[in-house]
Amino acid sequence: MLLRVKSRSFVLCLFAVCIFSEFPNDVDGFEPISITTGVASITAIGISTLAANFGSIKSKFLESCDDNWLKKDTQGLKNDLSTRLHGQHLVIENVVKAIQAHKRHLPSKALVMSFHGWTGCGKNYVGRFIAEHLYHQGMKSKFVHLFVATHHFPHASRIETYKDQVRDWIKGNITACPQSMFIFDEVDKMPPGLLDIILPFIDHHEEINGVDYRHSIFLFLSNTGGNLINRKTHEYWSQGRKREEISYKVMEEVVTTGAFNEKTSGLWHSALIEKNLINLFVPFLPMETSHVKLCIRDDLTSKGHEISDEIINKVLDELHFIPEDSKLYSKSGCKRVSEKVNMVMETI
Ligand SMILES: *[C@@H]1O[C@H](CO)[C@@H](O)[C@H](O)[C@H]1NC(C)=O
Repeated sequence: MLLRVKSRSFVLCLFAVCIFSEFPNDVDGFEPISITTGVASITAIGISTLAANFGSIKSKFLESCDDNWLKKDTQGLKNDLSTRLHGQHLVIENVVKAIQAHKRHLPSKALVMSFHGWTGCGKNYVGRFIAEHLYHQGMKSKFVHLFVATHHFPHASRIETYKDQVRDWIKGNITACPQSMFIFDEVDKMPPGLLDIILPFIDHHEEINGVDYRHSIFLFLSNTGGNLINRKTHEYWSQGRKREEISYKVMEEVVTTGAFNEKTSGLWHSALIEKNLINLFVPFLPMETSHVKLCIRDDLTSKGHEISDEIINKVLDELHFIPEDSKLYSKSGCKRVSEKVNMVMETI
């Protein structure tokens, strides 16, 4: 009897826990068999629990497509945009609403938003905030994909290769995680027609070959329509009206006209527009001095510098403002603020 027990305990030791060897086998009144059975079942439970938890343990350390790594922090997104994006009343309201709707309900299609405006008005910035509030890893998440036209698709002649690539990437990545996000930057510099490749993925299909594309998000960033947006914004200013009076409807009209008609828009006569597959056109208005000042303050704060009018004015002096007569808008928005702040801080 004892021998049998010992050999069993040896086997158990091999497995994992050597609790049994701690027990003296020859203690009076002990029933070795029940101990063995007990330990065996404890070990068995242990191993199976371990196996069952392995997935979730792994998911705690390795980014996975689940609630440990995905989030729906639309309130946080709203707060961040409200405090850190300057002069863009049309962006905050509409982008947050669109994402809330897409995340709250079972979406009927992928969410597609097209951001329009001059450089430095915050298009990339908003893309980053969205990533940070939907993925714990933010832009570094393996579920967030950034394509920059001049970097990823520089040669118009290779459009067919690019098409195959983009199609495979989207398919592969959404198969791995339906909540993937794709950001296409510099859409206006993409070979015309390339974007149409994503058409089937963002249309109203429940699934294609077993893959559900409806939970994904696509962002298109471009300068397209930027001049028209600026002209309209300036028009309001000339009439003595506040820019906050500009309604979404007015600007949407301006932007869609530009997107559809500007030959270099990347969306020029694109089926994406014709078929109404873009959920939201988002206009970014040109930045006035007061907005740029806020960007400078943010930058100084984030770098731990003191904020003074002297420094702010010095940074402003480094930037270009247009048009010639009124010098109302920063030519590069807030884009070069950080770099100019560094420069000014060097000389102080
Ligand atoms: C996902 O997209 C990236 C590009 O961001 C690509 O390199 C990768 O191969 C894609 N993954 C799959 C499984 O297709």
